[in-house]
Amino acid sequence: MSERETWATRAGFILAAVGSAVGLGNIWQFPFKTAQFGGASFLLVYLIAALGIGIPAMLAEFVIGRKTNLNTIDAFEKLGYRNWRIVGAIGLATGFWILSYYSVVGGWVLRYIGGSITGAYFSDPAAYFGQVSAGPEALALHAVFMALVVGIVALGIEDGIEKATKLMVPSVVVMLVGLAAFAFTLPGASEGYAYFLSPDFGALAANFTEIVPFAVGQAFFSLSLGMGAMITYASYIDGDESLFADSVTIVVLNSFVGILAGLVVLPLLFAQGIDPNTSGAGAVFVSVATAFAELPAGQVLGFVFFVVVLIAALSSAISLLEVVVSWAVDNTSYSRPVIATGLGGVIFALGIPSAWDTAWLTWFDNLAYQLLLPLSVLGILVFAGWVFGRPALGELLKGSDFGDGVGLTWLWTARTVVIVAVVGTLLLGLQTLFVGGAIVPPL
Ligand code: PHE
Repeated sequence: MSERETWATRAGFILAAVGSAVGLGNIWQFPFKTAQFGGASFLLVYLIAALGIGIPAMLAEFVIGRKTNLNTIDAFEKLGYRNWRIVGAIGLATGFWILSYYSVVGGWVLRYIGGSITGAYFSDPAAYFGQVSAGPEALALHAVFMALVVGIVALGIEDGIEKATKLMVPSVVVMLVGLAAFAFTLPGASEGYAYFLSPDFGALAANFTEIVPFAVGQAFFSLSLGMGAMITYASYIDGDESLFADSVTIVVLNSFVGILAGLVVLPLLFAQGIDPNTSGAGAVFVSVATAFAELPAGQVLGFVFFVVVLIAALSSAISLLEVVVSWAVDNTSYSRPVIATGLGGVIFALGIPSAWDTAWLTWFDNLAYQLLLPLSVLGILVFAGWVFGRPALGELLKGSDFGDGVGLTWLWTARTVVIVAVVGTLLLGLQTLFVGGAIVPPL
């Protein structure tokens, strides 16, 4: 077998992981939920969840990946726990599942880039969304988006993913800063900031039991945990570096981009007098498009904005495809391009129902969010904390200046607080699925 690929540089790994983390979650969900759940006071809860729960969970994945240099399934076997491959398999299946509809939304974004150039959505944004979000057009663009993802992954770790994300992540930040600066100049923008950032402890207290699980779930999804993505990316690390330092960098940058997105979207909406209190992926597309339709330079702004969203979505999608591709590269003798194309094709097929009818997309999303993700994170944490345990500590401390104290803090946090938080999230998810009825497919 040829030698396994690695990242060329440490920065390359970090940027790829940030690229995975920064995605649709940061730009669509984050600003809106923050505003709705109490602004700055929710931000605080989210940051506590991301740092206190996200970092320990991310470290668990990093340790498994770097220690074994293997894909998310075989890693468990190499550590000596063959039966635990099931946890890796759940993660891999979750990534597969999520990418199938993530790519459909990526297709919408492509459509909106075109629609900004031609001004197609300007006259009736709501009707436009209805028309492009499901059916033949959505299906075609789902295929295009998937082809882009396959193209990057086929080029490999260093020449594909690392080179691409090195370009993509800084571009996203620069363009968002530019858009935020523009939004700042709009009359009425200050109301947007007030809505986004003023702490509303009343709203926080009133919905606390809903907010905490949401913050935890959002931290997992946004940090790309629970689908083998971080295990896989860490498996390409060559050499020892401080995983602590890397994970803090990734979490901070990810939160920063979410906040930046809020500083773009909310002032834009308020300046145009659009109610941001809408729910669902579609509603967000419609509200932002409505703002662009009314602004003087709307075509250019819309174009830049949706290009940012596209890049963010792409750099996340490649990490999802890489999880499965990595497994096939480690286990078969086919070439990476053949594998990426074949698996990309299967994932495309799985996404057909979501592209055809948004009710399917919602169903797929619910199942991933409420069941697969928390289940997979739980499996990884129980494994890293309780089963693998002490040897995980050794791996974690390699290349770091921190002493055993920090390592033990990680171990016990992962074993207790984090597991409790994940079990809570999982139970609530099960309730949504089985009591709330979200498990029933939209047949
Ligand atoms: N973190 C991405 C986002 O916020 C989603 C994602 C999840 C990407 C899992 C890859 C793996 O949109």
